[in-house]
Amino acid sequence: MQDLDLSSIKILLVDDEAHCTKLMEALLKQAGYSRITATNDARQAAQLFQEIKPDLVALDMRMPHMDGFEVMRQLKPMIPNDDYVPILIITGELDAPTKHKALAEGANDFINKPVDGTEVVLRIKNQLETRRLHQQVRMHNQHLEAQVRLRTKVVEQTQLDLLNRLVLASEYRHDVTGAHAWRVGRVSMLLAEMKGLPPDQVDMLKKTAPLHDVGKIGLLDSVIMKVGAYDESDWEAMKLHTKIGSKLLSDSRAPLLIMAREIALTHHERWDGTGYHRLKELQTPLPGRIVALADAFDVMTHACSYKASLTLSEARVEIERQAGKQFDPELSQLFLKLIDREGEALMANATAVQLFA
Ligand SMILES: [Fe+2]
Repeated sequence: MQDLDLSSIKILLVDDEAHCTKLMEALLKQAGYSRITATNDARQAAQLFQEIKPDLVALDMRMPHMDGFEVMRQLKPMIPNDDYVPILIITGELDAPTKHKALAEGANDFINKPVDGTEVVLRIKNQLETRRLHQQVRMHNQHLEAQVRLRTKVVEQTQLDLLNRLVLASEYRHDVTGAHAWRVGRVSMLLAEMKGLPPDQVDMLKKTAPLHDVGKIGLLDSVIMKVGAYDESDWEAMKLHTKIGSKLLSDSRAPLLIMAREIALTHHERWDGTGYHRLKELQTPLPGRIVALADAFDVMTHACSYKASLTLSEARVEIERQAGKQFDPELSQLFLKLIDREGEALMANATAVQLFA
């Protein structure tokens, strides 16, 4: 094991008797220590501890004004939980209960007065070795924690990159930019915030809402790429995208994919129970009800091959009209407030970078 670098080690001595601190200082200097601070007034111990941040404290127990117990009580909160600063009690004979109490208060070792020079130096060295080992373990743990954080970030980013590409793949045949998907993600996020969902849920929603139509990847070209109005059979075929999306995203234990699956399956449900799967009112999970509104709003306010777009105020009227019919009535009220607050900006394009940051 590498030798301790004695010149860098700081020791704080606290003893009311000047001849004791002088003797200790002499012993320690002879042993090679040079950064020694001593006080004969226990009331100064805490301040000195803060100033010099010692590697070890040698402390007398019986002192006027403040005994060793009180000094230890003052020092304890100054030592971080993951640090180890040994406290050596240097005192006359101690009875067993006092020794037990001192150990319970944070003492790490005892030395009896009158001190034996060799014993003092050896015990102090032992304690400093323990401190060094503790510091090495702590540094190693910090290094490992940093590595875990870094790798977790890489895994999370990989997951988001894959989700991003899945969105683009699902939109590719009818909207190469994926603009609808990202807008729905952003509007869903704003509505979730209005609803007062916790930040981690809002974050998950903004990342999973763009996947609501992922099941369109499995639809026939004759349906997904059709120009003009859909007939009944087209709509029946189109409805399958919720089931396909749910299947694509099933059997994962990742919270993001679990939420994405729920949204893919339920974003065409209606409050009155006349949606794709006939779920009524609160039977549709909240993420599905939020995305149902955000998706419908986006479809209303953007033109496609078979219909023109509504203006913002026309969309507002439509949402108000459908509150409690197509949409969750409470979410509808929040959405109306969102329209009033955001104005035309609510219809603006979003990007994957904004949502997946
Ligand atoms: Fe859809």
